Amino acid sequence: MRFLVFFVTILCLISCKESPKVLLSDSKKSQESNASGEQYRPLYHFTPPTHWMNDPNGLIYYEGEYHLFYQYYPEDNVWGPMHWGHAVSEDLVHWKHLPIALYPDEQGYIFSGSAVVDWQNTSGFGTKEQPALVAIFTYHEPKGAETDALDFQTQAIAYSLDKGRTWVKYEGNPVLGNPGIRDFRDPKVIWDEDSGQWVMSLAVKDHINFYTSPNLLNWKLASEFGKNLGAHGGVWECPDLFPLVDSQGMKKWVLIVSLNPGGPQGGSASQYFVGDFNGKTFTPDDTQIRWVDYGADNYAGVTFSDIPEEDGRRIFIGWMSNWQYAQVVPTYTWRSAMTLPRSLELFKDQEGYLLQSKPVDELKALLGTPKSFSGEAEISDEAYLLSVDSITQTIQIVLKNDLQEYVIFRIENDSLVLDRTSAGDHSFHKAFSAVHKAPILVDQLHSLNVFVDRSSIEIFVNDGEQVMTDLLFPTKSFSIIEVSGTDTFDLTPIHSPFNN
Ligand code: FRU
Repeated sequence: MRFLVFFVTILCLISCKESPKVLLSDSKKSQESNASGEQYRPLYHFTPPTHWMNDPNGLIYYEGEYHLFYQYYPEDNVWGPMHWGHAVSEDLVHWKHLPIALYPDEQGYIFSGSAVVDWQNTSGFGTKEQPALVAIFTYHEPKGAETDALDFQTQAIAYSLDKGRTWVKYEGNPVLGNPGIRDFRDPKVIWDEDSGQWVMSLAVKDHINFYTSPNLLNWKLASEFGKNLGAHGGVWECPDLFPLVDSQGMKKWVLIVSLNPGGPQGGSASQYFVGDFNGKTFTPDDTQIRWVDYGADNYAGVTFSDIPEEDGRRIFIGWMSNWQYAQVVPTYTWRSAMTLPRSLELFKDQEGYLLQSKPVDELKALLGTPKSFSGEAEISDEAYLLSVDSITQTIQIVLKNDLQEYVIFRIENDSLVLDRTSAGDHSFHKAFSAVHKAPILVDQLHSLNVFVDRSSIEIFVNDGEQVMTDLLFPTKSFSIIEVSGTDTFDLTPIHSPFNN
């Protein structure tokens, strides 16, 4: 009997140690969550299960699943040897974590890149009946990177024949060697219907190189773009070239280029060019600098490959952070989230074509019942949509809590302004506490949709004709909203698609 008691006590001690959370009081739990940053984990944005995440990679749709791969370091909450983490979703909203897709190896870390379905089996990795998914990524050889070598970044491929669950790295890697340039990375590949070939956009320090290939294995330089165009406050990264057809049936080409630093709010941001592409050369319509998002926290965003024609959307996801402070934000068990998926469209004003980012319709499945208010309302949720369907140049919105923390968003003197200087914790980096300003680009203002999650705000003016995405770390959730400059506004709770 004494032996049994001893045995049970030992068992209890072991199990108590393994699952301490079960025994914690509520206040202990909240202290623990503050120390982990879990209170900031978004309720409806994608986050990694644990540890560090940056860019979205290999965005692709295949057989009913959207795949989201991402730059992942599974051993720490700061950047490190890069893997491709992996998740899938049937609706862009509910995501299921899958095992890591690509691990670093003796050729290097697995940096950013893209994925395509090789429908015609040009690579020979699959068959026409069972096409291969082909991932095209950058190998970053870390030892070379620490020296004054120039050629430590090369382009490589891997393929999957089981719906992206397992990947085989091509034995002939790299498929594109380095010509002697330190920044030579982030291949984004598309199939160009008109010229009947694969086209790769690659970030090369201060410009984009376009390469073409019949089979994903052999690549030929077709042209260079951008040395003397666009914003150049930092290194160019993560390009994405794709066609879009406007509402009048006009086909244009869009080239997104991320750059770090040099963004409109400091640090990282993504610019875009609209123009034409003839299978070799991209020619922009003008020399204007334009930004995909005017906030501080939308970087390295790219679009999905192989969305079926009958759907026809070009869906974009960005990394919701900024290299200025991404590694020190006050979350510890995990770091970084993705932006909401956005459908990219073109619209025209006197200046020419502009990019519009609309939150995808699938998000509607998460919406609760809207309530209308005027002036002021109490907020009882941590995730909600604020919508106003008639706005003017004078609207101002304040979200605040009883700790005198607040974020203000307003339109004033032809600018969009977001002030996060008093929005909560900003002690982790001096660049975080800032007022973000952007010029108003559209002639007529009509609507505003603001998606708030625990630690982020995404503002869509005129259904995404202008966008601002910003992180916020209020130490207590905002509990009051004040809106001036409009008669009524709607608040709609957003349900979490995850089991938090
Ligand atoms: C962009 C980036 C890419 C690179 C990756 C490394 O955020 O710097 O250029 O491939 O992150 O994680």
